[in-house]
Amino acid sequence: MDHPMQTEVWNPQTLKELIQILHQLFSGDKVNAAEVQTLMESYESNPEEWSQYAQFDQFRYTRNLVDKGNGKFNLMVLCWGEGHGSSIHDHTDSHCFMKILQGNLKETLFDWPNKRGTGAMLKKSERVLKENQCAYINDSIGLHRVENPSHTETAVSLHLYSPPFDTCSTFDQRTGHKQKVKMTFYSQFGERTPFELSVSHENN
Ligand SMILES: [Fe+2]
Repeated sequence: MDHPMQTEVWNPQTLKELIQILHQLFSGDKVNAAEVQTLMESYESNPEEWSQYAQFDQFRYTRNLVDKGNGKFNLMVLCWGEGHGSSIHDHTDSHCFMKILQGNLKETLFDWPNKRGTGAMLKKSERVLKENQCAYINDSIGLHRVENPSHTETAVSLHLYSPPFDTCSTFDQRTGHKQKVKMTFYSQFGERTPFELSVSHENN
């Protein structure tokens, strides 16, 4: 039986195809988060397709811009050295999709701290995401910290943020204090960002 109303099943064979389909899914006003998550999960990671974006730093994780999604989203590759991790952070009222391209990432969820920002933030849950899995979060779900739990293997992930944003808030786990930070790209479209444009990259 045909089900004409059924959501289309996409099966991108390459990163390029995945990006083309993402452009279609984000061309309208509404975003079906479950559909995007399923789509991103269905792309089978092939390092040959993303290695040009996988530029590592010795000291902290890097953000590498892959596609600007016609202004509707930012798609980027994040590179996590051994033991590298993020602060606890929010997502500036955007959708956030995070797909593992290589290795494992640990995601720890937190509730928003109380309004006064006083008191330790309690861990709500944690899980380890494996290659090809895709996680989803937004501000109504909560806050998270992402880290590469391995001390011998690097990790690479593909992130989509919609609408795009370049500032977010980070949170001190012990106090709940919030700090606004600006984010920059380590590389864009495979080219290292000039130093002047990347110095504001905060440790978030
Ligand atoms: Fe995040």
